[in-house]
Amino acid sequence: MSWRHALLIVPAASDDARTDFGSTFAEHDPGAPALLLGELSAQRGDGVFETLGALDGTPHQVEAHLERLARSAALMDLPVPHLGQWRQAIARAAASCPPGEATIKLVLSRGLDDGRAPTAWISVGQAPDFTAARTDGIRLVTLDRGVDRDAATRAPWLMLGAKTLSYAVNMAALREARRRGADDALFVSSDGFVLEAPTATALLRIDGVYVTPPASSGILHGTTQLSAFAWLEAQGMPVRYRDVRVGELGRVDAMWLLSSVRLAAPVRAVDARPVVGDAALTAALNAALLARTS
Ligand SMILES: Cc1ncc(COP(=O)(O)O)c(C=O)c1O
Repeated sequence: MSWRHALLIVPAASDDARTDFGSTFAEHDPGAPALLLGELSAQRGDGVFETLGALDGTPHQVEAHLERLARSAALMDLPVPHLGQWRQAIARAAASCPPGEATIKLVLSRGLDDGRAPTAWISVGQAPDFTAARTDGIRLVTLDRGVDRDAATRAPWLMLGAKTLSYAVNMAALREARRRGADDALFVSSDGFVLEAPTATALLRIDGVYVTPPASSGILHGTTQLSAFAWLEAQGMPVRYRDVRVGELGRVDAMWLLSSVRLAAPVRAVDARPVVGDAALTAALNAALLARTS
């Protein structure tokens, strides 16, 4: 990803009564250094992030991303983010989006190791071309995440439902998937349930119902999945959050990985077993996801 634009943010306290946060933003050359060596985001991945998609300067699902940012910050004991400030920062960043599909990344770090204050920034870049993934589809391999479905409740310090900056494990899973000849991974729990992909939510069509695993199983609640459910329901299709056993993958007749920038990538195969798919629905869903105005 080559970043085209960046905004450094001095995070405001959550009860800051200002209505204009312009003075807390500073334009920054994305090619120039910005962080000090004591930054805990760089040293420990100690912070949270969000990645939004945008089309022609309109960012998608701003409120859902902000809610998740706040949820992730709470799970990490970070100071409560001022959502009004972030909303303004996103609007300012969106104004500098290149034409077409873009990526807007929000980062909130615990800050410097001297405990001064959190640091935050936004960067904007052109989205990669995901036409092939959206039309030809992707092949998945299932990978054991090494935790069971109840780990998020039993061990909250694992921060399983938070979008933390510590994505090294997720990236390792993607490399493992590629080593095994696939395009992406599907995490499954040690007790045999479907979880999520390293950077996407799983949507499965089983017996005519569009199903996604619940966030309570220690996965991120996807903003794209929320949009997809809303669209599917508007088309009169049944949608459901429920636990999905790995064995049920054999009954899936269509499946997608959903995420903010790649959008809906249809799954062609899971562990080398072909998935029939639904090209017409995929195209309509991606068109609807791209056309979102909020
Ligand atoms: C682990 C994980 N699950 C799900 C998602 C999908 O979330 P969203 O649709 O909000 O991009 C992501 C996105 O990066 C992710 O990293």
